[in-house]
Amino acid sequence: MSPLYGPFEIRPGRREDAGGASSLRNAAIANSTAIWTTRPQTPDEARLWWGGLVDRGAAYVADHDGMIIGYGCWAPWRPAEGYRFTVEDSIYVAADQQGRGIGRRLLTALVDGARDSGAHVMLADIEATNTGSIALHSRLGFETVGTLREIGTKFDRWLDLTIMRLQLAG
Ligand SMILES: CC(C)(COP(=O)(O)OP(=O)(O)OC[C@H]1O[C@@H](n2cnc3c(N)ncnc32)[C@H](O)[C@@H]1OP(=O)(O)O)[C@@H](O)C(=O)NCCC(=O)NCCS
Repeated sequence: MSPLYGPFEIRPGRREDAGGASSLRNAAIANSTAIWTTRPQTPDEARLWWGGLVDRGAAYVADHDGMIIGYGCWAPWRPAEGYRFTVEDSIYVAADQQGRGIGRRLLTALVDGARDSGAHVMLADIEATNTGSIALHSRLGFETVGTLREIGTKFDRWLDLTIMRLQLAG
C-alpha cells in the first residue's frame, strides 16, 4: 500500500469490509507480536469472524476512499456469562498509516459504541513492548492493571502481557 495522507472516515463495519480488515489482521500476525499466532486467517474464517462482529455492532473501520486502512472491534473478554459486561478491544492500523490519529479515532468509536451497547468495563490485552498501543490506550484514559510475565511465546521468545482497563459506566 502506498502512503496516503488524505481524509478518512470512521464508520461502523460492514460485511463487505471482511477482506480489508482481515488483511490488516494477517499483516499483524506475520510481522508483529500483537497477535500471538503465526497462522493467518483464511478468507472463510475472516467472513465468519467479521460477520459476527458486524452483526453485534462491534466493528468499526477507517475508510479512505473505499480502502480499509484501519479497523477496531470489541468482543467479550471471557465467554462465561458473569463476564458479559466486560469487553476487550482490538485495533489495527495499516503500517504506513500509523501516527496520523486513526487509532485514536477508532478507539474513541469503540469506547462510545461499547458504552452505548451496555458494556461496563473495556480491557486491552497488550504485548508488553507494544509502546504504541500502550500510549494510545493511556491517552484515552485506560489505566495499566499489571503485566503477566512470560505467558505467551512467538518468534522464539517469551511474551509478557500488559492489561489495561477503562471504566465505561458507573
Ligand atoms: C497501536 C496503533 C493501533 C496506534 O494507532 P495509530 O493510528 O498509529 O495511533 P494515533 O496516531 O491515533 O496515536 C494515538 C496516540 O497515541 C500516541 N502514540 C501512538 N503510537 C505511539 C508510539 N509508537 N509511541 C508513543 N506514542 C504513540 C500518539 O502520540 C497519540 O497521542 P495524542 O493523540 O495524544 O497525540 C497502531 O500503531 C497499530 O495498528 N499498531 C500495530 C497493531 C497493534 O499493535 N495493535 C494493537 C494491538 S494491542
